[in-house]
Amino acid sequence: MDPHFSRLSETLAAADQSHLLQFWKELSPQEQAVMTADLEAISFGEINGFFKNAMEMSNSSKQEKMDGRMEPVPKDALGSVTRDQDSMTDWEKEGLRCVSQSRVAVLLLAGGQGTRLGVQYPKGMYDVGLPSHKTLFQIQAERILRLQRLAGKMHDTKSQIPWYIMTSGKTMGATRDYFLKHSFFGLEPSQVIFFTQGMLPAMDYSGKIILESKGKVSMAPDGNGGLYRALAKQGIVEDMERRGVEQIHVYCVDNILVKVADPAFIGFCVLKGADCGAKVVEKTNPTEAVGVVCKVDGVYQVVEYSEITLPTAQRRGADGRLTFNAGNVCNHFFSIGFLKDVVQKYEPQLQHHVAQKKIPSVDPQGRRTSPDKPNGIKMEKFVFDIFQFSKKFVVFEVLREDEFSPLKNADSQDGKDTPSTARHALMSLHHRWVLNAGGHFIDENGTRVPAIPRDGDAGAVSRDVSANLKDGTDLPIKCEISPLVSYGGEGLSELVKGKEFRPSLVIDEAGVHELVKNGV
Ligand code: UD1
Repeated sequence: MDPHFSRLSETLAAADQSHLLQFWKELSPQEQAVMTADLEAISFGEINGFFKNAMEMSNSSKQEKMDGRMEPVPKDALGSVTRDQDSMTDWEKEGLRCVSQSRVAVLLLAGGQGTRLGVQYPKGMYDVGLPSHKTLFQIQAERILRLQRLAGKMHDTKSQIPWYIMTSGKTMGATRDYFLKHSFFGLEPSQVIFFTQGMLPAMDYSGKIILESKGKVSMAPDGNGGLYRALAKQGIVEDMERRGVEQIHVYCVDNILVKVADPAFIGFCVLKGADCGAKVVEKTNPTEAVGVVCKVDGVYQVVEYSEITLPTAQRRGADGRLTFNAGNVCNHFFSIGFLKDVVQKYEPQLQHHVAQKKIPSVDPQGRRTSPDKPNGIKMEKFVFDIFQFSKKFVVFEVLREDEFSPLKNADSQDGKDTPSTARHALMSLHHRWVLNAGGHFIDENGTRVPAIPRDGDAGAVSRDVSANLKDGTDLPIKCEISPLVSYGGEGLSELVKGKEFRPSLVIDEAGVHELVKNGV
């Protein structure tokens, strides 16, 4: 008998996973070789342990119990871009100082599979249809470049923001090729560091690993909390230390408005002496699909929208605002010391969450099936599950219209978090930047478009714009400003003050352009 086969079958029998070799004899020698390599890479004892713990945890943390254990974020841990305007300048200054000294790194979580968006390539490569057709990756890269230049100029240094990009086995090749093809969008190739997160097999409810085809195990990334194991395995924290990194901004790929390495957020966390922080937007709709930052059993945690009952989600305080209103936008701050502790000490304590999924598989007769209801689970760790270990945790509340418009779903009528809503959110923001910098828009008859922002109250305009968007009668003014020109609305007065523009307006490094109707 083939020694590979007998070794494998012994290992699988010991782990009660012998069914994985059911179709072995039907596989070609090449398929057998691939399957052998795949199976040898799996640590079955560990996987069986993960399954047992994850199922126990998912059965014990029933919603009712979770609800009773939750408390909102206390006021002394909160900072806000609107309520703490007096401190904003200090926070920003401090953040820019840290950036100028090359102490800040950004870490992008880009290992997700974009299933809801329905694309076969990494979500960061998505073009939401802006006039420039820039993708999410390009927008983020250019924000990094601009911020480096701003901070460097301010402090007369040559600063660099290392960009760590976590991919998965499924997104690594395409992501790396894309950056190479586009010459890293002007960044130094050495400042962009790709690494891969782990994968775990999908399992049925009795703990049996699912076969996707006769010779292939169904594998999925181990959740964005797979980050910490990946950091350890690939020596990333050591790389950060070598580069002198002290603060890390971790964020997810799909938010078109993300302020990468946001100096205000970094400065706020640093000046508060925090080791860990989360950026939030106010959750106003109880059923919105965002997790909420809160305390559970006295320690910080994010409770996902699926883990909370409707009555708890609907609870309101005396001021009429939702009690649990700190909506998680997946933007986190870690000090290097905290991240090191997590990676070296705490990671093994994190439990996998269970997600019930419809998992394509082969049945015992060897037929491929695509179930119409969940038939198994995927196990995932979550990036925020380490908040519980923080010794000084802070929460930074920002305006949704300025900073949060995630791309989750494909376009559809009345769709939420789609390419159209992301595109509109970015153009609305840039429209407001132009108005705030003293520019004006005119319509096809030369009449000024009436949208008058009050200084320091960009929210007033954007509320108007989003009200228009909802009824679909009036789309935002088409306006796009390259991140290479402005990171957060700065530096525009000299380009637009006192001038009138006919949309579409594009401002990039080459200048200010009014585009003739382009069907955006
Ligand atoms: C996430 C947050 C949720 C928040 C919402 C805001 C988590 C677990 N949940 O939810 O609290 O309100 O964003 O938009 O963070 N990813 C990986 N590897 C994986 C899975 C995901 O890197 O194995 C990355 C994705 O590429 C993405 C990010 O993590 O950049 C968020 O993943 P996603 O599945 O979109 O999370 P949500 O359920 O939308």
